Amino acid sequence: TQQEALIRALPKVELHLHIEGSLEPEMMFELARRNGIKLPYDSVEAVREAYDFDNLQSFLDLYYAGAGVLITEQDFYDLTWAYLKRCEADKVVHTEIFFDPQTHTDRGIAFETVLNGIRRALKDGNEKLRISSRLIMSFLRHLSEEEGFKTLEMARPYLEEIDGIGLDSSELGHPPSKFERLFAECKALGLPRVAHAGEEGPPEYVWEAIKLLDVCRIDHGVRALEDEKLVESLAETRLPLTVCPYSNVKLKVFDRLADHNLRDLLAKGLCATVNSDDPAYFGGYVQENYLGCARELKLSVEEILQLVKNGFEACWLEEGERGWWM
Ligand code: HPA
Ligand code: ZN
Repeated sequence: TQQEALIRALPKVELHLHIEGSLEPEMMFELARRNGIKLPYDSVEAVREAYDFDNLQSFLDLYYAGAGVLITEQDFYDLTWAYLKRCEADKVVHTEIFFDPQTHTDRGIAFETVLNGIRRALKDGNEKLRISSRLIMSFLRHLSEEEGFKTLEMARPYLEEIDGIGLDSSELGHPPSKFERLFAECKALGLPRVAHAGEEGPPEYVWEAIKLLDVCRIDHGVRALEDEKLVESLAETRLPLTVCPYSNVKLKVFDRLADHNLRDLLAKGLCATVNSDDPAYFGGYVQENYLGCARELKLSVEEILQLVKNGFEACWLEEGERGWWM
């Protein structure tokens, strides 16, 4: 279709991608072998079969376990490089990725091992693939704010290498308000902030992320639609939502892609963007998310153009940094 051709041809950005969530089962096996780790699966197929989730938590349990094969700086480099090669194939020209340092430091991996591996790949991506990027350090919200402060202390010598701050992991029961002081400290350090909110959590969590954490984007945010005042405010400010359609279906936020509210978000004037979240677990990179939505939601050419433009509007590139595609 015309829509499909357009999606494939357009340069795109991605703004919601957990690098640990791009660990494909093939690489999981390869790294397990390289590092002498025994996996609780017999085959790549068995891993894929296990990726049948009921909700966010059932996914997170496997996602944190899978990340256990990442040990050396080279592992983090290889993981990030594989993702960037995929970006190249899909015409993703700019990407802003999350990493979860606590997932690794809590099992004895040094902060700088993680950071250096990812950073070196991003630099190579910039130089060899012409893909620009930003790196967002995300705090795990099921851990305490104090744990978050300890992680910020570990990051302090490397703040030049960190472009922003995020908040992810189990949403329900861990509202943004739990991290108000930590995010205030990050703001004082000059770091831009985003937070996952309104994925499984209520619209109140989106309000809290805006008012208490002073975020410049909301990750997911699809439940914002339940609150008319919030929708009005998001339309007025154009505070972006980084929507992840396949993720929402895999984690049962919506039953089917055809039921997703992406078109309604656009129709109400919100700056909704399309992203992949954890593509190795949810079965599609960003281009597949666009293609799936175009097919199942019957997106018009105008809607596709709007979504792609919203991505560029929502990204953190400065005017002078924009590449050949703008
Ligand atoms: N939500 C919360 N935490 C996460 C996600 C998500 O979609 N992906 C990886 N960590
Ligand atoms: Zn996410």
